[in-house]
Amino acid sequence: MSARQTDITWKAEPHTIAKIKVLEAYLVAYFQILGTSKSNQTLLYVDGFAGPDEYKNFPHGSPSAALSAAREALHNSQDRWVAGKLHCAFIESIPKRFENMVRKIEPFHQISGLCIHTYNTDFVNGLAKLRSDVPAPFAKADPLFVFIDPFGATGAPFDTVRDLLTSDCSEILINLDADGIGRIFQAKESANHDTLLTAIYGDRAWTSWFDKTEPFPLLCRRALRLYTEKLKSIADVRYVFAFEMQSSSGALNYFLVFASKHPLGLVKMKEAMKRIDQDGSYRFSDADVSQPSLLRFDDPAPYARELHKQFEGRSVNYESLDNEITNYALNDTPFRNAKQMLVILEKQGLIQVKTENVKRRKGTFKEGDVRAVEFLRVTQAFQF
Ligand SMILES: C[S@@+](CC[C@H](N)C(=O)[O-])C[C@H]1O[C@@H](n2cnc3c(N)ncnc32)[C@H](O)[C@@H]1O
Repeated sequence: MSARQTDITWKAEPHTIAKIKVLEAYLVAYFQILGTSKSNQTLLYVDGFAGPDEYKNFPHGSPSAALSAAREALHNSQDRWVAGKLHCAFIESIPKRFENMVRKIEPFHQISGLCIHTYNTDFVNGLAKLRSDVPAPFAKADPLFVFIDPFGATGAPFDTVRDLLTSDCSEILINLDADGIGRIFQAKESANHDTLLTAIYGDRAWTSWFDKTEPFPLLCRRALRLYTEKLKSIADVRYVFAFEMQSSSGALNYFLVFASKHPLGLVKMKEAMKRIDQDGSYRFSDADVSQPSLLRFDDPAPYARELHKQFEGRSVNYESLDNEITNYALNDTPFRNAKQMLVILEKQGLIQVKTENVKRRKGTFKEGDVRAVEFLRVTQAFQF
């Protein structure tokens, strides 16, 4: 259910609650890893569309979820915490929702090591104010994570998103309303489509991207694809993954798009997604494959075939952690690495593993053990 402008709170659908839980699970790992890895760096988390922090049927929203994650990470890390202060900022444009949120998060102000900032304004202006209050993460290598969760397709111009992702250690999670983008495209001038789509994508590439004869569901996927392409075109943003949220009827679709410069970010986001039970009233699917399939974290076989197709006939380096095979697994499959898929391929005799370790057992892909993987050409149909 979507809220009317006048509602302070509204009812959360199961997928909304799942989104909040995913965010919290991810942030515990994020704060903990970054809080214990590099001394004195400032950590900044931003919720750009914070909402009232309360639903009619659920006690909290994304602000308390993030602050609970911060509290847990600080508590778990204790003496190992070497970073500087952990800053959490919340931007909400509607005054009554803002006031509700400020009241709800009040108890978290007591946590030592945590600085809370709130802005009753829109996303773009809130970020500008925050940038002058906590400048380091916007300019240097200090970590910045921005959660962008608007209603509908507008409110987060791509120029702003690009700007956030130029800093060295920044990541975003955006709720992309691809249906909304599709509707704006179809409504043309009556929706002021030229201005809105140019703001959403940051330029006019969309004019030659969409095909107006295409059925609406394909149009929406195309809208998503252009968005992920745009994210990948930002320097060093090499890890972009779209999780599709569907209702059990398949009616609902919006995408949680994650973008990062570091593989560990995407590994941890996939772990957070995996941890959240899908209860039947919603499901995540992997939006990056052209045939939408349910995200089966437990079934590597179909992805093994795709992995083989991708590299067939090539010998691919597997020495460094940042290798082509692992990056393919991260960006184009639901898995965190390629190991399960490689096990299947080796069993089927479809790859040859190059190793200097004479004791290596077939089906093991320990880091440092495997020098390269040769993907043999297939002469018959796959046997799995
Ligand atoms: C989908 S809700 C946010 C839900 C919240 N992130 C959660 O998970 O609990 C979007 C919120 O953004 C607010 N909003 C709308 N336009 C905005 C803008 N341009 N800048 C900041 N907030 C905005 C709305 O009032 C609404 O409360």
